[in-house]
Amino acid sequence: MLERIIPSTKKSLPVIGLGTSRVFDIKPTTELLAIRQNILDILLDNGGTLIDTSPMYGKAEEIIGRLIETYDRKKELFLATKVWARGKSEGEHQIKESFSKMHTSKIQLIQIHNLLDWKTQITTLRKMKELGEIEYIGITHYKADAFPAMEKIINNEPIDFAQFNYSLGEREAENRLLPLCADQGVATIINRPFMRAKLFSSVKGKVLPSWCNDYGIGSWGQFFLKYIISNPAVTNIIPATSKPKNMLDNSLAGIGRIPDSKIKRKMLEIL
Ligand SMILES: NC(=O)c1ccc[n+]([C@@H]2O[C@H](COP(=O)([O-])OP(=O)(O)OC[C@H]3O[C@@H](n4cnc5c(N)ncnc54)[C@H](OP(=O)(O)O)[C@@H]3O)[C@@H](O)[C@H]2O)c1
Repeated sequence: MLERIIPSTKKSLPVIGLGTSRVFDIKPTTELLAIRQNILDILLDNGGTLIDTSPMYGKAEEIIGRLIETYDRKKELFLATKVWARGKSEGEHQIKESFSKMHTSKIQLIQIHNLLDWKTQITTLRKMKELGEIEYIGITHYKADAFPAMEKIINNEPIDFAQFNYSLGEREAENRLLPLCADQGVATIINRPFMRAKLFSSVKGKVLPSWCNDYGIGSWGQFFLKYIISNPAVTNIIPATSKPKNMLDNSLAGIGRIPDSKIKRKMLEIL
């Protein structure tokens, strides 16, 4: 799988990861847990490593914890969660809970979810980073109207990652945010790559253009992800899925040729 460099450490990160909002907020039945375990295996088998979650996603952190507690491949994972709290002590308590729910002593990245009380939470995260308790600090949002606030933080605070929405259907990040992250040495994680599956409805009944073969694009999922990958300021993308077959489909988007500007223009004509 294609890898991109995290500017602050120069370490590389495989470009396709996994989102867990809703799809990992499940009842821990043997059957549902086995499906999620299979999804993790497929992510790792195909070269991916990053799982993104949050205390906001119901049982998702707990489910990840149950899956990785005895997982012999736990060390291969790059775990990213968030702090979504107001106030110092509430934030610290929530972070402690994330480590405990996920049955891990190592969370690589903690992000400030939707910038909530970011001035307070960033101080906590900075201290944790200094102590070696986490490797990276990040901020997240999912709406373009938050981009000016994100840009201000990126310009003024030392952060490692910014996570935001970007897709063929929501392209605002191309204008300023992605170039700014590249300039400031901030790694990017792309959420809502399928606009929560809305993009699939917009191509319902359409067949993939024949030139897709030349770019190893074998599905609409790969089409949408390859468009995002073709932006060099993108470090990682976190499509969420509850299905092993879709995890494989998404992983395959991280392999093969990257669309050039001519192909990108053709991709835009699809919607
Ligand atoms: N503020 C924030 O920090 C924030 C906000 C939004 C999202 N996020 C993060 O970003 C992740 C991704 O965003 P999202 O969950 O909103 O939406 P998304 O990844 O754009 O879309 C997920 C939907 O796409 C479907 N899907 C996935 N792969 C597919 C494929 N190959 N073919 C067909 N359908 C496919 C999934 O259904 P199936 O289950 O059927 O595959 C699911 O319904 C979240 O899970 C979360 O981790 C963060």
